[in-house]
Amino acid sequence: MNAPLNGHALLDFNSPLSDAKAYDLIGSLHLRPGERVVDYGCGWAELLLRAVEHEPNARGLGVDSDDYAITRGRANVEARGLASRVTLELADVTSWEAKPADVAISIGASHAWGGTKETLDAMRARIRPGGTLLLGDGFWERAPGPKSLEIFGEEDFGTLAELVDLAMACGYRLLSVTTANQDEWDSFESRWCAARERWLLANPDDPKADEVRAIVDDHRDGWLKGYRGEFGLAYLTLARL
Ligand SMILES: C[S@@+](CC[C@H](N)C(=O)[O-])C[C@H]1O[C@@H](n2cnc3c(N)ncnc32)[C@H](O)[C@@H]1O
Repeated sequence: MNAPLNGHALLDFNSPLSDAKAYDLIGSLHLRPGERVVDYGCGWAELLLRAVEHEPNARGLGVDSDDYAITRGRANVEARGLASRVTLELADVTSWEAKPADVAISIGASHAWGGTKETLDAMRARIRPGGTLLLGDGFWERAPGPKSLEIFGEEDFGTLAELVDLAMACGYRLLSVTTANQDEWDSFESRWCAARERWLLANPDDPKADEVRAIVDDHRDGWLKGYRGEFGLAYLTLARL
């Protein structure tokens, strides 16, 4: 039997993020001993795990609705000796009730709440006054062409300045801003495609091969002929007022 395709196998994070930038983002959170970090839409929770490893007396909770991601994250929690401090829950974030966090993380998961403003509002209700939000969200690096608009839609994203203004208007102050650079994007997209290309090389006669090849071709076209250099991902560290 052929090995099943795992399209996320080659990714460290499910977002365009290097080790160095992850370290900087965690530093921007100013985590204190005893504080509680909640990652909504955590994926396999790599950033959350690194955050609690950085501050050994912090505790972490991650929530995601993807079974594969939570299973992978839980294995890492065990392997890295974090089971007494980190819990990962398989659940829909919108129905998850958690007491207000000291630090919340929402990276690449705004669609779960219905958009950026809705995410900022939902996170504000889930962070204690004076706490911190790490928001990872999209913006246009430059005016989008038709392919970018086809993939990401007309209305959901603005400029980086507009994203920051929206956060201010929703009751936050900006502590730090950084954006995924071209190397981070290219590494992320290459790994996404390479997981499928390697599976195709190993399983050329699989009944799903044509479908997987079409998906990766379409994705590569969307990236290289569309949103590369147009669609950006911003990481905002925000103080919750
Ligand atoms: C682009 S991934 C980012 C994952 C992670 N934050 C990271 O940066 O590696 C978005 C994640 O949001 C999760 N997600 C989307 N809608 C969700 C929902 N309603 N409830 C829980 N998780 C959700 C997906 O399963 C996915 O893991």
